[in-house]
Order: sequence, then structure tokens, then C-alpha cells
Amino acid sequence: MGVARIGGSVRSGEAVLSGLSLCVNGSVYAIAADPATPLVYVLRNELGMTGTKFGCGLEQCGACAVLVDGASVLSCNVPAGQLAGRDIVTIEADGDSLLDAVGAAFVAAGAAQCGYCIPGMVIAVAGLLRADPRPGEEAIRAALQPHLCRCGTHARVLRAVHALSSDGGARP
Ligand code: FES
Ligand code: FES
Repeated sequence: MGVARIGGSVRSGEAVLSGLSLCVNGSVYAIAADPATPLVYVLRNELGMTGTKFGCGLEQCGACAVLVDGASVLSCNVPAGQLAGRDIVTIEADGDSLLDAVGAAFVAAGAAQCGYCIPGMVIAVAGLLRADPRPGEEAIRAALQPHLCRCGTHARVLRAVHALSSDGGARP
């Protein structure tokens, strides 16, 4: 296993130097890993991006969510090799104004206790707001439905999302 950072953007026709070539947070990485490896393991174990959490491994908890081409995707069962050429964004993304706005709203609402579920929730909310800056109650609950929180922060998470939605200004 190993990883090499190739450059700052996806280039069509770019040579794949090893098992995988992935664009994560705006950088392209060549990764010596089996393309069948679930994305969450590649992010955490090969790229050191441990902000994406592993919970159930069965698409049942939402802890492993990342953005793929702007939409929230659970990374624990998707083979990383299927995401070549796609734009993957994790909670570590620098300078992502939407992720920053969602994170700030969570902080303002006190929407974290142990914090384990929070990166996945922030990603889910960012994906929702990217598609619809003013989502209604039904859309908000649908976006958060895959995300479990053992600490019971759901009410505060909803408060944070409603603040962003009524603000409508979270979208860059
Ligand atoms: S670890 Fe992916 S949904 Fe639980
Ligand atoms: S804050 Fe602890 S699991 Fe959600």
C-alpha cells in the first residue's frame, strides 16, 4: 500500500500510476490499493483522512458520509475504484465555504456531544443545501434519516439546519 499526490486537479486521460487514482478535496492521489477496497478505508488508512468515521460498515449509521460530485454518499460499501474521476469531498476539505457554514451552525446550536456522528451529519447537510439552499422540514428529515446519533443530538442538529435554511445564505 502507498500513496502519491499527483496534482491539484483532475485531468482527463491522466495516467493511473497504481491501483487507484482518486480526486479528494481537490487533489489527485495515486494509491496502491485494491480498487475494490471500500472508500472509507482508503480515506482513513491510505490518505490519513480520519475525519470520515467508520461506524457500522453496513450503510446503517451515516458516520462514513462524504460528498461525491456534491451529493452525500455513504463510503463504507462503495468500492473506491468506482469513484475514479469523481469529485470526492471529505470533512477535511479546506476552504469549502458551505462545509464551514454548516460546521459553524452546528457549533452555534451546540449540536455535538461525543462528536462521532457529526462529520457525517455535516456532510449530509452540506449535500442537502447544495441541492436546495432552503429545504423544508420533510427534505431536512429525509436527508438526515440515514444518520444515527447515539448521544441524541438530533433536535439540536435540526435546529442548526433550520437556522441555515431560513438564512438561505449558507450556499456559496
Ligand atoms: S459506517 Fe457507513 S453507514 Fe455506518
Ligand atoms: S454526538 Fe455522539 S454519536 Fe452523535
